[in-house]
Amino acid sequence: MKRFVVTGCNGYIGSHMCYELKQHYPDCHILGIDMVEKEHLSHLYDAFEHADLSRDVFYLSPFSNQPIDAIFHFAAFISVEEGERDPWKYYFNNVVGSLRLIKEAKTVRVPNFIFSSTAAVYGESTSKLFGHLSEDRPMNAFSVYGKTKQMVEEVLSNVTGMNVIRLRYFNACGRNVKANLYEEHDPETHLIPLLVKNKTAKIFGDDFPTKDGTCIRDYVHVIDICRAHIDAYRYMSENTDVNFAVNIGTGHGHSVKEVVEKVNQIIHNGEMEIEYLPRRDGDVPYLVADNGVARDVLGFGPIHTLDTIIKSMKE
Ligand code: UFG
Repeated sequence: MKRFVVTGCNGYIGSHMCYELKQHYPDCHILGIDMVEKEHLSHLYDAFEHADLSRDVFYLSPFSNQPIDAIFHFAAFISVEEGERDPWKYYFNNVVGSLRLIKEAKTVRVPNFIFSSTAAVYGESTSKLFGHLSEDRPMNAFSVYGKTKQMVEEVLSNVTGMNVIRLRYFNACGRNVKANLYEEHDPETHLIPLLVKNKTAKIFGDDFPTKDGTCIRDYVHVIDICRAHIDAYRYMSENTDVNFAVNIGTGHGHSVKEVVEKVNQIIHNGEMEIEYLPRRDGDVPYLVADNGVARDVLGFGPIHTLDTIIKSMKE
């Protein structure tokens, strides 16, 4: 029987992960840790710790004296915009909280640690020919949010005695309809949920150096992201001295205009209107994954497409 710790268990990806873990390991025990308690999600884990990792001492109490197979560390503040306004809040929570967790994990000898990182660690593409981003590109985060993830990655890359995989998600989206899970951000700032909710699309900047002037992103279904964690955990279980970063994306880029057209067609019967606004602070023109390491090392391949992502948001 496996025991997992999931920090940020009540967040968007964390809640989907708890569900996915139970699908793959039906008799596993999950200790969920979050600052926010959500009663309607409590069926997803066996025990819950209400903890702010930046303040509370982190005791793995419900599992004390029992070995933990892996920690999935999702807990973090994630708004690029808020990070620019309140950097201290982001550095303290995301960096200090993660260091405390890593220290605790080492103390109780957790063998496997999977960290939620982000494509934002790459920063602005330096190439004029916008190639796919591979993991060997040096990290050069642009936003405070990206810098907090980069700092934790740098610390984790030097950790010994514990397997570590740093998963760099590209644009997470979609939902698990069957499990009735969804994205709940307040305020919502992400493109697809906003387009699904509103018939007027606001496009931030159409003068980027891309094919149609709007930013290109790699939209990856949250269920595929969770599947990648399962593949990462399996890999770690079979290997020692693991410590590397892996891109989790589809390898396909879509411009904001293309996403608007798809949502218009699938959700709004062609009735959407478009409003063009200036560029948003912190946005880079192009973020698309080279997913060779995920495929060749972890055996991971996404099964969802932009169409199935948008359809999942319709239901
Ligand atoms: N956008 C619009 N209008 C909107 C909302 C967004 O034009 O109403 C544009 C943005 O300018 C950007 C693109 O749509 O070009 C995607 O924006 P999102 O806010 O959905 O996502 P981001 O690419 O800014 O960031 C997301 C996560 C980050 C992560 C990054 C990795 O929020 O945490 O993907 O690719 F780092």
